[in-house]
Amino acid sequence: MIEAKSFQLFPETASSIAGQVDALYAFLVLVSAFFSLLIAFLVVFFAVKYRRRPGIVLEQEQAEHSIGGMVLEIVWSVIPLGLSMIMFAWGASIFFTESRPPADSMEIYVTGKQWMWKIQHMEGAREINELHIPVNRDIKLTMTSEDVLHDFFIPAFRTKADVVPGKYVTEWFRPTKIGAYHIFCAEYCGTKHSGMIGTVYVMNEADYNNWLGQGSGEGSMAEQGQSLFNQLGCGNCHASLINNGNGRCPNLVGVFGSRVDLKDGSRVRADESYIRESVLYPQSKIVAGYDDIMPTFKGLITEDGMLKLVEYVKSLGAKNGSPNTATPAPVETSASEPKTRAQDKTSPQAGSVPGRR
Ligand code: CUA
Repeated sequence: MIEAKSFQLFPETASSIAGQVDALYAFLVLVSAFFSLLIAFLVVFFAVKYRRRPGIVLEQEQAEHSIGGMVLEIVWSVIPLGLSMIMFAWGASIFFTESRPPADSMEIYVTGKQWMWKIQHMEGAREINELHIPVNRDIKLTMTSEDVLHDFFIPAFRTKADVVPGKYVTEWFRPTKIGAYHIFCAEYCGTKHSGMIGTVYVMNEADYNNWLGQGSGEGSMAEQGQSLFNQLGCGNCHASLINNGNGRCPNLVGVFGSRVDLKDGSRVRADESYIRESVLYPQSKIVAGYDDIMPTFKGLITEDGMLKLVEYVKSLGAKNGSPNTATPAPVETSASEPKTRAQDKTSPQAGSVPGRR
């Protein structure tokens, strides 16, 4: 567990981005402190210097728009504008970095629920209120909630993101220090919100692989997704497609990360949220050339199960460079794969835009 520290002003600095966030924060504090002190000093100084003295009569007021007044007004407008634009640009650049997971990130799935964090590793390992990760690797979390808004916050990594029911949100970080750090829920989510805490364990690569090796004995997420796929009967329509199909349902091989043409003429990128929506609300986006015949699976599948299905669909041939190509689940035949893979080379890296549909 995490040992208690004596008084500590800042959480530990344990991720690649933490230093940048701290530097920006220090800048904000210094600028605020400088101007607060300056203004406080001037208030007192002028109050003393221009205090009312006996026998002195007020002079006539100056004309309203003297040149000196104009220069002064421009100066005190332009300097704060410049400072706030620096804060804006600096903050935006850190925000962009934090919201764009690197393409080769290691993917881990998180489900929030009142009041715990459920975590699934692609290799099959599962844990609750604990997150084991290797040091010096980019880690991408794909997160959703089973009930209400939560917020996954690791102060030592200076990273947090709202976990929203009904959609997938991503968060990424690169831990740089071996150790144990706090996980908090940072969004009030009910009576036991304060107990929705956990620990992230950053380990060296060997220890991590060791830990992973203990596994759940249930196979990888993609394999579990495949058995769920068969269990729910998705195979009745879609599996035949994997075997070069009969054309009643859209082909799932290579669909992840590609652009999909819809019946209404628009196009969507097949990301995690699109797959989720297609399973739970199949009528909302009909693929061009197909009929609205798929029943909804809402209520028949948990959020955990949904993530496994998504991982299975990903494993059916992902775009080039995706981490998922490393561990594809076995597919009976991949006859139609080359064609679909070449569909859209210009599409952005799968999953790089959080929460986009
Ligand atoms: Cu979950 Cu607060």
